[in-house]
Parts: sequence; structure tokens; C-alpha cells
Amino acid sequence: MCGIIGVLGKHEVAPLLVESLKRLEYRGYDSAGIATVRDGHLDRRRAVGKLVNLSDLLVHQPLAGKSGIGHTRWATHGAATTENAHPHLSGPVAVVHNGIIENFRELREELAAAGIHPETETDTETVALLTRLHMDRGMAPREAALTTLRKLDGAFALLWLFDGEDDLMIAARKGSPLCIGYGTGEMFVGSDAIALAPMTNEITYLEEGDYAFVTRVGAEIFDESGRRANRDKQVIDAGSVQVEKAGYKHFMAKEIAEQPAVLGDALRNYVRKDGLNLPDGLDFSGLDRLTLVACGTAFYACSVAKYWFESLAGLPCEIDVASEFRYREPPMPKNSWALFVSQSGETADTLAALRYSAEHVAKTIAVVNVPTSTMAREADVALPIHAGIEVGVASTKAFTCQLLTLAVLALKAGIDRGHLSPEQLAAHLETLRALPGLMNTALGTSDDIARLAERLAEAQDILFLGRGPLSPLAMEGALKLKEISYIHAEGYASGELKHGPIALIERTVPVIVFAPHDRLFDKTVSNMQEVMARHGQVLLVSDSKGLATASEGTWATLKMPEVAEPFAPILYALPAQLIAYHTACAKGTDVDQPRNLAKSVTVE
Ligand code: G6P
Repeated sequence: MCGIIGVLGKHEVAPLLVESLKRLEYRGYDSAGIATVRDGHLDRRRAVGKLVNLSDLLVHQPLAGKSGIGHTRWATHGAATTENAHPHLSGPVAVVHNGIIENFRELREELAAAGIHPETETDTETVALLTRLHMDRGMAPREAALTTLRKLDGAFALLWLFDGEDDLMIAARKGSPLCIGYGTGEMFVGSDAIALAPMTNEITYLEEGDYAFVTRVGAEIFDESGRRANRDKQVIDAGSVQVEKAGYKHFMAKEIAEQPAVLGDALRNYVRKDGLNLPDGLDFSGLDRLTLVACGTAFYACSVAKYWFESLAGLPCEIDVASEFRYREPPMPKNSWALFVSQSGETADTLAALRYSAEHVAKTIAVVNVPTSTMAREADVALPIHAGIEVGVASTKAFTCQLLTLAVLALKAGIDRGHLSPEQLAAHLETLRALPGLMNTALGTSDDIARLAERLAEAQDILFLGRGPLSPLAMEGALKLKEISYIHAEGYASGELKHGPIALIERTVPVIVFAPHDRLFDKTVSNMQEVMARHGQVLLVSDSKGLATASEGTWATLKMPEVAEPFAPILYALPAQLIAYHTACAKGTDVDQPRNLAKSVTVE
């Protein structure tokens, strides 16, 4: 979603702002802009589309000044136009904003009563207009910004810059993360540490409700009640904010290729020689239910994990997408836990679901990739997935690391509940330990997949099928493909095929079947035969045993190494990702920043 950067610098800031916005591109955006103060005078440049448009504009209409703020906007209120792009300017005030000001309509009425009318469709403009109104009435910038802040409802991060003040930025966090960076005689504000990485590695994350007055000598931070707050300074490890393609054509390709290594890291963290290594306080014995909630790819990770918690631990599970869960206000047994999976740890719906559950269940657990995220802080137990920064909007390595973390939790539940013997645990751990090596082998199919993708790229519709824990993987495969190639795709549990989707089957519809040679293999093959009997073009993804018995009549096959049940989805995620990746490349779409999508969805 929107990215925020602010710099009180020693040099011209426009190039720095654009450079930082580039680092925030991965969050997803459809317009961008910057504002600077020079000799006490505020000015701005904004452009629709990619940052290159803003850079071009700055070549023809440069913006001088050593203090500035910048923004990449992912449109919520109002189309992606130059008028709606940030920074929003009103008189002596410039504002950039991430999130939503929920009461902006009421605030507009208040402004209308004072004779002030909006010029854009955005909620953000209201903040600039209100601050200006307060300044017109005689308030100084700090008081005007705070008076405005107290009137705002919603979840947001805000950054103000003022005409006549080239040594002041005001930052506020309520719902969306914001961090302050320290330099020597320079200060920075960013929506994440990644934005600030080239300028500083000394960072303070604002806490919920905090606001800060930032000048070149430092930041005065206050909590929600207006008391001075001491927030820790952290030194950020350079590797954790590295956003380089390292020779790959796309971040997504790099992140797919990194999976054997990051899965190995996650394994080393959660599995030791003598068994599992999880934080204290995770005893699943006697638990009545586990509820798993997430959005998008993280939801499919939960859907796979449901099979594991049930089969390995006999633990009843409920799963739901967060946007439904939060509003259906489900009854939750007291003696149950709720687990939330999120790459970013900031997704608005998942966070709301966590907050709802915290009131109802005995324990909340957050499985996140960003350990400093809001969900990690608010859950009773936070489990990092150790995937490292993920830049491609379509989640890949975070998905497999989420699965690994959930697999480890399911094994822990199995032991705690007496459902697994130590010998069975040891065998499952062997399977997990083998995965990085098997993933390397699976990555070897990349060139074959690239060839098949030439044909897939011509399809209008593609179906994905799988059974058991491979059925959510079929859905994840379809999601990945539609996200980045814009081809319509659906994933189904293969047994559901004849209850509707089979009507879609014809010669032009490729059907991708994930079917390791497991106890459900014959069932899946029967469904596959039904497709082929209707001239559907099947791409069978299986192991050597599966391919030896079921390749006949298929359009194509892909050979995966053998993997013991029930962890095949972790391995089969790789061909699913590679199919989407190569199909998107064949179509020439923007793989890392697909249209309309955002990496971290901080609005509902
Ligand atoms: C967005 C992304 C998806 C992601 C989902 C959940 O929609 O485009 O790739 O799966 O958000 O994000 P989270 O950070 O909560 O995992």
C-alpha cells in the first residue's frame, strides 16, 4: 500500500525522496509525488503511474530544497489521478498519508461550515484542509497538526511539512506503521525501515497512537495521551533491508530461487537435532479448537495447515478469511486459541480479526514475516517465519515459510495431544529436513515450465486441481497465476470437479493437476481422466511413481522428487509459483508489481 518518506537533510532532497520511493515501490502504488520546502516556500510535483513519470517531471520542473516529504499512493478514495496524488497541499500545509480517515465526510461538513471545500476526492485532503484552517485561526504548526490529529478516526500514518518551516516534520501513527531514522544533522521518517536503508540504519518505530516532532537535531516522541515517550532505537541489520534483484530479472524469480535457503533458515530456528524448538507457552494438550485466520496467500497456508492440525494432532480447526471472520463475530470457545498468518503483519482485516479474538480466546498467535509488525506485537505469541524481506507482490517464499512454521506447530500439537509417537515425530522431522534439497531439485524444472508457459499464456481460463492438502495448493496456484498473468484461473478440490467446473472443460482449457503418488493419488487420477475424456489439456505434476502410472493422454508432465505425506504442498508450491511466473513473463506483464495489487493491505 502507500509508502511514506520524509527527509530533513543536508543536501538537495528531491533525488533522495525519489530513491526512497523506489525502495517502497514493492508495496504497490498507482501514483507518486513529493513536496519540498525551499527558502521557506512549499512546492510539490506529482505524477500518475510509475515513478519514472515523476522522475521525468522533475527533470523538466526540478524541485529544490533540503526538506521534503514523498509518497507512493495506492488509490482508495478517488481514482489514480494527479489531483488525487499526494502530497496534499493547502496553504502552508503539505500532508502525506497511508491508511483511511474514516470520518472524512463529517470533517468535510465541518470544513464546509467554515467555507472550505475540497478540490479532490480523497480523504487525505481533509487533513491538509483542517490543519490549514487551524493555522488560519492562529495556531502554530505543531498545535494545528495535533488539533487535527485528535479529530481523525481510522487507521493511518501521517506526515506533515509546513511552509516557512524547513526544520520541522510532524509524524503520527495510528494503525499504520511509521518509523523515524537518525542521521548526523539529518533526520528521516519512513513507512518502513526499507525506505530509510541507504540513509540510516538507526531507527525508532513509533508505537500505536504516537506522534513526533522531528527536526534536524532529533525527534521528540509523545504517546497517545501526550506524554513524552522513550522509544527504543534499533540498529537495523543491513541484510534485512536489502532489496536487490541480485542478477535475477525479477524479485519474484529471486524469491522463488531463495526458497531452499530460507526454508533451511526457518528449519534451523524451529527444529533442533533433539526435536522441536518453539517458544514456551505453546502447550496444545486439552485445547478444544484452533481458529486460523488470514488473507490471500496466507489464507491458503492456513487452509493447508488445517489438514495437518487435524491429521497430525486430532485438533478441530476452523479457518476463515479475515474480512469475513471479523464481521461475522463468531462464537469462540474460551478454551481455544486463534492463530493469524500474515507476511506483513499489518493487513488491516487480519489485525482486526486478531483484536476481536484477543477478547474471546485463551491465546492469540501471530505467524508473521516482519517481527516488528503490529500483529507480532499484539499477539500473545509471535512466531517469525524467517523468509527475509519479500519484495515481489505475489507471495512466494513467505508462503512456503508460513507452511513450514505451521507444520512445526502441527507436529508440536501432535506430540502435546498424544496423537504422535516420538518415532512418528522423528520421521516427520526427517521429511521436513529433506525439503530444502528437494526444493532445489524442483527448481530444476524451471526451464521446462518456461516452455510450457508459452502455451499457457495463450489460454483464457486455466483450472488447477488437487486433493487433500494439495487442494488449497491448487487454489494458491490459481491465485498466483491470476495475480501476475491476469489469466482467469480457478483452483478446485479435484473431487468437486464434477459438481460444476467440469462444464468449463474443452480443448482450449489447460488443467493443471498436483498429484503426488500418495494415498489419494488414484482418486485424483480418476478426476483427471474425466477431464481428458472431455478433451481437457492436462498438465500433470507428480513424482516418478505417479508419472509412470498416469502420464498417458496428458498434454504434459512435470516430475517432482518424491516427498512423504503430508508435507507435499511445501514442495509443490514451487511448480505452482514457477507456472505463474513463466506464464506472466510470456505475457509480458509487470511481474513484481502487478496492476491493482498492493503488497501490504493496510485498509479494509
Ligand atoms: C495482499 C497481497 C497478497 C497477500 C495478502 C495478505 O493481497 O497481494 O499476496 O497474500 O495481501 O497479506 P499478508 O501480509 O497479511 O500476508
